[in-house]
Amino acid sequence: MASKYDYIYELLQQYRQKNIYRELLISEIKKEDGNNNISFYLNKKKVINLCSNDYLGLSQNHFILTKTRNALKQVSQCSSRLISGNNINIEKLEKILANHRTSENALVYPTGYMANLGVISALSTCEHTIFSDSLNHASIIDACRLSKSKKIEIFKHKDINHLKILLQKNSQSKKIIVTEGVFSMDGDIANLQEVSELAKIYDAILIVDDAHADFVFGNVGNSGGIPEYYGVAEDVDVHISSLSKGLGCFGGYAASSNLINEFLVNKSRQFIYTSAIPEHLAVAAITAISFLKKNKNIQKRFFEKIHWFFDQLTQVGFNIGNTSSQIIPIIIGDEKITTNFSKELFKYGIFVQAIRYPTVAFGKARLRISLNNSIEKSQLVYVVNCLDKLGRKYKII
Ligand SMILES: Cc1ncc(COP(=O)(O)O)c(C=O)c1O
Repeated sequence: MASKYDYIYELLQQYRQKNIYRELLISEIKKEDGNNNISFYLNKKKVINLCSNDYLGLSQNHFILTKTRNALKQVSQCSSRLISGNNINIEKLEKILANHRTSENALVYPTGYMANLGVISALSTCEHTIFSDSLNHASIIDACRLSKSKKIEIFKHKDINHLKILLQKNSQSKKIIVTEGVFSMDGDIANLQEVSELAKIYDAILIVDDAHADFVFGNVGNSGGIPEYYGVAEDVDVHISSLSKGLGCFGGYAASSNLINEFLVNKSRQFIYTSAIPEHLAVAAITAISFLKKNKNIQKRFFEKIHWFFDQLTQVGFNIGNTSSQIIPIIIGDEKITTNFSKELFKYGIFVQAIRYPTVAFGKARLRISLNNSIEKSQLVYVVNCLDKLGRKYKII
């Protein structure tokens, strides 16, 4: 007899058949032998974690943890910002973030995902066309779907000519252009100078989701991401980012002009109708930013490690696409091979998630490495040796 759940069983079965079925793993952080060395466990197995967005290794920083613990007075604000959840530390964080992005103002959201939904859906009206890079993150895609825009135009990845053609085609429309700074699944960098030029010419609102470049790329002592790296920070109307990547904390934000900020406070549903981030998490982010300002060499040392790792992987013969960042995809293509490769790496004590459809297109499956500064070079040498061995076994190199 047919049941109301039949379609769910069928879809799950299809996911298994297509090798895109997903399962949760349990992670654990352990201090070994009472010393300060921290080990990472997944499903009770000690592994080198090459899948953390804590790029600079700040999430376990003793100084930041202590300040965060001391700020912990209640678990949660238990209210939205506009009711009774606002507090002095969130406001302080927003001032720091505005300054960090050379914007007039900033608005903290519970996550980067919600910042994208909140900003793009609030700013777009039925008179707008949104121009979105084809490799933009799921949160941007969802934000476009949620918007009231009359049209969403997807331009080919980083293809400035295509973007120009689409802008011309929609010249009668109001326009919003949205791109990532560093692309989350490929690690390559947006042509932001050209994109911002087009935004000026076509009078488009320019939104940059810089979640993966924030606090990693940019000027020494600030690391304000890709807009700062290209010297176009002031041309960006809204900078969107996550606090749970380069900063190793939690939350999201949108930095913009006073006008846009005031509008978001009044219109952005993902800001208005949800609880404020807990105050101690705002303190964590404030402390992490101040830590980075005092430790200006962290990013430089990190990039030395990244470039050394690029060289190793390309010498071995892997296809790592066009990455220029800490996100390094080993592009394999086939979903099954990628999943098996990832499982076998796990046996060697290395965790690299197999990224498959719908996160990337079918046939573009990959092992997506995100390098983390706390991984030692000796560990990376071991990783390269294991990748080399398995790469040969699976005939990828
Ligand atoms: C490009 C991009 N934007 C936004 C987000 C969401 O950030 P958060 O994890 O803070 O929700 C992610 C998360 O991976 C991302 O990759």
